[in-house]
Amino acid sequence: MTLSSPPLFFLLCLLSLPFLSFSQNQTALNNNRLQKAYTALQALKHSITSDPKNFTVNWCGPDVCSYKGVYCAPAPDLPCHQTVAGLDLNHASLAGTLPEDLGLLSDLALFHLNSNKFNGCLPSSFSNFKLLHELDVSNNKLTGLFPSHVLCLPNLKYLDIRYNKFKGQVPNEIFDRDFDAVFINNNKFKFTLPENLGNSKASVLVFANNKLNGCIPKSIINMRHTLNELVLLNANITSCIPPEIGNLDQLTVFDISFNNIEGTVPESIGNMKKLEQLDIAHNNLAGEIPEVICELPNLKNFTFSYNYFCGEPGRCLHIKRIDDRENCIAGRPDQRPHDECMAFLHRPPVHCDSDGCIAPPPPPPSPSPPPPYHY
Ligand SMILES: *[C@@H]1O[C@H](CO)[C@@H](O)[C@H](O)[C@H]1NC(C)=O
Ligand SMILES: *[C@@H]1O[C@H](CO)[C@@H](O)[C@H](O)[C@H]1NC(C)=O
Ligand SMILES: *[C@@H]1O[C@H](CO)[C@@H](O)[C@H](O)[C@H]1NC(C)=O
Ligand SMILES: *[C@@H]1O[C@H](CO)[C@@H](O)[C@H](O)[C@H]1NC(C)=O
Repeated sequence: MTLSSPPLFFLLCLLSLPFLSFSQNQTALNNNRLQKAYTALQALKHSITSDPKNFTVNWCGPDVCSYKGVYCAPAPDLPCHQTVAGLDLNHASLAGTLPEDLGLLSDLALFHLNSNKFNGCLPSSFSNFKLLHELDVSNNKLTGLFPSHVLCLPNLKYLDIRYNKFKGQVPNEIFDRDFDAVFINNNKFKFTLPENLGNSKASVLVFANNKLNGCIPKSIINMRHTLNELVLLNANITSCIPPEIGNLDQLTVFDISFNNIEGTVPESIGNMKKLEQLDIAHNNLAGEIPEVICELPNLKNFTFSYNYFCGEPGRCLHIKRIDDRENCIAGRPDQRPHDECMAFLHRPPVHCDSDGCIAPPPPPPSPSPPPPYHY
């Protein structure tokens, strides 16, 4: 028998398998997980219609761990086997769709797809990602309803689907999950902030540039130990600012600009000692700016332009960046014309109920009952 005879060659191959796994030089040939990953990544490669930066050009052959943007690590449940733990395609300018086969990457902990041109939906097979910790598909052209299957991922902490074309309702369950950050801004969602908003343990909630018709629930107070950033700009919120907001003393960024917020600014905002950025511009707020707000020790940027405020304590002018334009403040430059301010003052008054929602106008006094007949 010569060395080149088939049976011995076969035997040598078999013998070399254990060494391969010890040297961690594993490819799809000897590891079932990497075999599945190979199927998944080839399916993705074939669903890509444009790759102007040649990002996936080395996505060939069974050694998926050497593919650009693919990160392998020991499998948590089988540490001697490598598995695909991360897929990072950020800023690759790829166009195409996301195939169902991606669900075969069942050990994925990180999935970053931001700033590409993927369209279509998030495949339902994403519900296989039981280890997924971060999902960032922001800044693509994804469509469809809110991808509810991500709410079932037990380890997901960071959900970023901003700058896409998702539409419809956002399920209330999103606030019952222990996400650390939720970015759903710049989509076409239409929903009302639900009462369980306050159950959220997130440190960052960004809902801007959607339609959140309605008001801000009082339960917001329940986020006082955890919430650092709340961004609700341009969200068609029609409400007053609930005084409960002042309890959010961990908040550093609060932005409710470009809404239809009515009423006055609650003094309680003066309790938000960590506040650095406050933006309430482009609303229908009136009255005076409470001095306590301008005394907040960390406030660096206070924007309240395009409202109907009539007074501003001198203290406010010491804040690093302030924008008070287009109000009705006597003695300040760039204010609204006098007649606009007068017209606003003569509007029928707007009342907020104890929930901070705009209360319907009181019913007109009922006509007095007709005098009783006398026979
Ligand atoms: C290990 O993998 C590399 C490429 O991924 C390959 O070229 C090399 O031949 C492999 N080594 C062994 C011992 O199989
Ligand atoms: C991508 O590859 C094609 C073909 O090899 C080449 O013509 C093109 O210049 C490459 N583009 C970039 C950005 O490297
Ligand atoms: C904004 O919200 C109000 C109710 O709060 C609703 O009547 C109106 O249709 C909403 N506008 C849009 C563009 O959705
Ligand atoms: C201050 O806030 C405004 C409005 O939110 C923003 O446009 C501006 O970039 C901020 N400036 C700084 C220096 O953070």
